[in-house]
Amino acid sequence: CGIVAYVGNKQAAPLLVEGLKRLEYRGYDSAGVAITTPQGVEYARSVGRVSVLEDLITAEPDRYRGTLGIAHTRWATHGEPTEQNAHPHTGTTKSGHTISLVHNGIIENYRALRTYLEGKGHVFTSQTDTEVLAKLIAELYESAPESDNASAALETAVQTALREVTGAYAIAVTCTNEPHTLVAARKGSPLMIGVAENAYVVASDPSAIVAHTTQAITLDDYQVARLCAGPVDGWGQNAGIDIAAAKATGKPWAVDFRTTTIDNVEVTQQVTELEIDLQEIELGGYEHYMLKEIMEQPEAIRTCLTGRIDTREGTIVLGGLSNLSRELVRAKRIILSAQGTAYHAGLIGEYLFEDLAKMPSVAHYASEFRYRNPIIEEGSVIISISQSGETADTLAALHEAKDRGALALGAVNVVGSTMSRDTDAGVYLRVGPEIGVASTKAFVGQVAVLTMMALYCGRRRFLAPETVADYLRQLEQIPDHIATIVKQSDMIRDAVEKVVDRDNWLFLGRGYSYPVAMEGALKLKEISYIHAEGMPAAEMKHGPIALIDDGMPVVFIATQGSQYDKVISNIEEVKARGGRVLAVATEGDTQIEKYADFVFRVPHVAEALQPMLTVVPLQLLAYHAAVLRGHDVDKPRNLAKSVTVE
Ligand code: G6P
Repeated sequence: CGIVAYVGNKQAAPLLVEGLKRLEYRGYDSAGVAITTPQGVEYARSVGRVSVLEDLITAEPDRYRGTLGIAHTRWATHGEPTEQNAHPHTGTTKSGHTISLVHNGIIENYRALRTYLEGKGHVFTSQTDTEVLAKLIAELYESAPESDNASAALETAVQTALREVTGAYAIAVTCTNEPHTLVAARKGSPLMIGVAENAYVVASDPSAIVAHTTQAITLDDYQVARLCAGPVDGWGQNAGIDIAAAKATGKPWAVDFRTTTIDNVEVTQQVTELEIDLQEIELGGYEHYMLKEIMEQPEAIRTCLTGRIDTREGTIVLGGLSNLSRELVRAKRIILSAQGTAYHAGLIGEYLFEDLAKMPSVAHYASEFRYRNPIIEEGSVIISISQSGETADTLAALHEAKDRGALALGAVNVVGSTMSRDTDAGVYLRVGPEIGVASTKAFVGQVAVLTMMALYCGRRRFLAPETVADYLRQLEQIPDHIATIVKQSDMIRDAVEKVVDRDNWLFLGRGYSYPVAMEGALKLKEISYIHAEGMPAAEMKHGPIALIDDGMPVVFIATQGSQYDKVISNIEEVKARGGRVLAVATEGDTQIEKYADFVFRVPHVAEALQPMLTVVPLQLLAYHAAVLRGHDVDKPRNLAKSVTVE
């Protein structure tokens, strides 16, 4: 889900809609805004894309005139994606003021709170956990101890309400009694505040802020921000600022903010420069973000490797690990924990650490690891892998492992994300913002980082410097190799076109190629809605072979390496049953053409480095399949870029 909120000297509605569009990739089954107007508050809510909401607002521009507003784009957790369940949610205070609220996260004790509030006479109109929070703030509004100071009443009510709540939240709240005040708070769900001239923009994601300002405050857990902005002459008594001081400046508009904990202890928050380039998040001539991100992988991976590997000395410098690198090298067990695509990178990491560093390692779905009562022996290191650094399942596993004494490292893309802060140390992917919901360049970046970590450990444990130097020289070539692979995009499209009508596919590989097969199948599923399964090629004969019938597409990762001959045997088994084989094979391998219907080529590299290449044709394959089937590649149905609920 995504939050945008605005208080300042411009019309809020168009700014909020524009911000929501930038956040749409995070969730988009419904959207809504609440605009504080001179008469009170006006709402617009809609099911579906933000453009539907935009149409509602532009149809009645006068109705939505106001300089304070909150907005939300939702991905349903509690309750269906209906208009009623769409945010903002509301509550009515005892003296009739309206509280409006948008929320990301989950209120875990919402049932008990709902019963309590119903007892107090509040009538609920949605099935969401969020509505409880809006009504709780309304219930507490006039009973707040500082209610004589009207400008602090909303802030106080929010603080008091949040002390009653368990779960995760990022919220933005307004009250009709305080027409120039926006209150925001967070715990466990990201939220930042852009500090612009004469305005504040609150958002769950920097992409909605950078269009306005690069100056921002990142709220920490359990912090509440009160943001005020308004014309000096029109504030009335609920100003939230020192009006006399504001008037003395001679400026027509005044702004003020303060941050506190939910226990009302004032905290000083630094305004820092946001390191994000708006250009980077625009499409740059490509039809879809996913294609752009596939095509920019050479540059992204080069940035990931730059300054970290020395091919002459055979050394690796991972500055982010700082003084914890010794603990990593001495680890008795490596736990790789992630979800989705990042989990597949973790599976490759498992092979890398065992193969290159001879360290026992195992990849887990974070969601399973978290709740299995895991055994963490001394010397365990957990590596959390994530593009966003906000995935709730992965965070929960990280916290559990830390509580049980593991050293926690991260391989994360988003700088300053919760995971990057909650780990003891880590290595950033540095692949730039990833907007397409289907992860591509972040996956290759995750594998590159894990490869460097494993080689680093191997070098310190037993690998000869020449061996490491040889790996590093090959690693340095990976960006160029990816650049040659993506040139086959049209050829891959032509091949896909011949089989895209088929609804069941298999993806098979052995060794390092097995997790790549899993990832290839996931990519195809998520954006083209074709059913696909990825598995070890040898596993096919233990059951799934029964599926193969005339014309069924079977994708093999059949690069030259230790298990090449066995993979060829598997291909023959598929051909014998009428399957159509699409093979990812090594450049110069002429034998493969005898067996496969379509061949996509990757340059030859050491087996341990092949996943960063072999996955690329599979990304393109999924992309073209989805486009050919007419789907919205960047916003696949039911999916969100970042899943911040468990
Ligand atoms: C979601 C996305 C996946 C992603 C997974 C993990 O389910 O749809 O594409 O792989 O989350 O996300 P993370 O940000 O932790 O890498």
